[in-house]
Amino acid sequence: MTPSAVYRHPRYYAIGYRWNTDPECDFIEACLTAYGSSKASRLLDIGCGAGRHAMELSRRGYQLTGVDLSPEMIAFVQEESKRANLPVTAVVDDLRHLSLRGTYDAAFCFMDTFRFLLTNEEITAHLRTVAGLLAPGGLYLTDFWVPAKWDLIGDEIHQWEQTEGDTTVRVFYLQHPESVDPISQTFDDELVFVVEEPGGIQEIRGGPTRTRLLLPQEFEALVGRSGAFTLRSTHGEFNLAKPFDRSTLSWRMISVLQKCDAPQADPAERSPERAPSPSVRRESKG
Ligand SMILES: C[S@@+](CC[C@H](N)C(=O)[O-])C[C@H]1O[C@@H](n2cnc3c(N)ncnc32)[C@H](O)[C@@H]1O
Repeated sequence: MTPSAVYRHPRYYAIGYRWNTDPECDFIEACLTAYGSSKASRLLDIGCGAGRHAMELSRRGYQLTGVDLSPEMIAFVQEESKRANLPVTAVVDDLRHLSLRGTYDAAFCFMDTFRFLLTNEEITAHLRTVAGLLAPGGLYLTDFWVPAKWDLIGDEIHQWEQTEGDTTVRVFYLQHPESVDPISQTFDDELVFVVEEPGGIQEIRGGPTRTRLLLPQEFEALVGRSGAFTLRSTHGEFNLAKPFDRSTLSWRMISVLQKCDAPQADPAERSPERAPSPSVRRESKG
């Protein structure tokens, strides 16, 4: 997988994506209260990007660790948190095989990062690894794109813009329909930033990145298969009172997973019980 080139520009990313950070952090806190982890203090941000959640939650008094594949993003989080005097830990790591150690009360993986897990095996392995990093009853919150309409699968475009000081970042999220593989349920999507600053305008094309189409029922089945988490609720926006249902017709699904008390073995992976071998009678013709 080639990571999007826009992730090498954390300052522009931080501007372009800051729009919903406070409500998203409020949602994390609401989940901790609702699902019995109100004393939670140690939080893990998986695919932390430029650290918008990590910094805000650190400001609110939590102990934050952020991991991301992009060294530029991690360096940015380290510099910004130092500048703001916030004790955020940020390290380079890959969500497909996390090497991080420690125990956390909750983890979250926001803004579509989860869809970089391309296969069922990567998803269940990731869920088990995250559960292994969580305290008993720990929460894992995910947030990823789902098609609101089936005839748009792999063919959506979203765009928005944000301004900070004299810098405006226009973000374009594109899906490339010609790249859809309906068997593996993967396709290429792409981020493009158009940055307007006093020195001029530049376009930063992220390049196509392979991502997974993950449907709601399938996600529930994979969470069950992992044996690591129970799916407590799903939402179409960052509001615990609003379940994800047809009235939501949202482009994103936010899920609240809670670590199982005792990991359940996946029936599909259990070694087969010894069954009496079927007797085969060879019939000879003639
Ligand atoms: C769309 S951004 C989301 C960032 C952040 N969660 C947010 O909500 O702003 C996706 C992030 O995932 C990171 N990423 C991509 N592939 C990754 C991987 N395999 N492991 C960890 N991080 C990854 C990128 O570097 C980028 O910072």
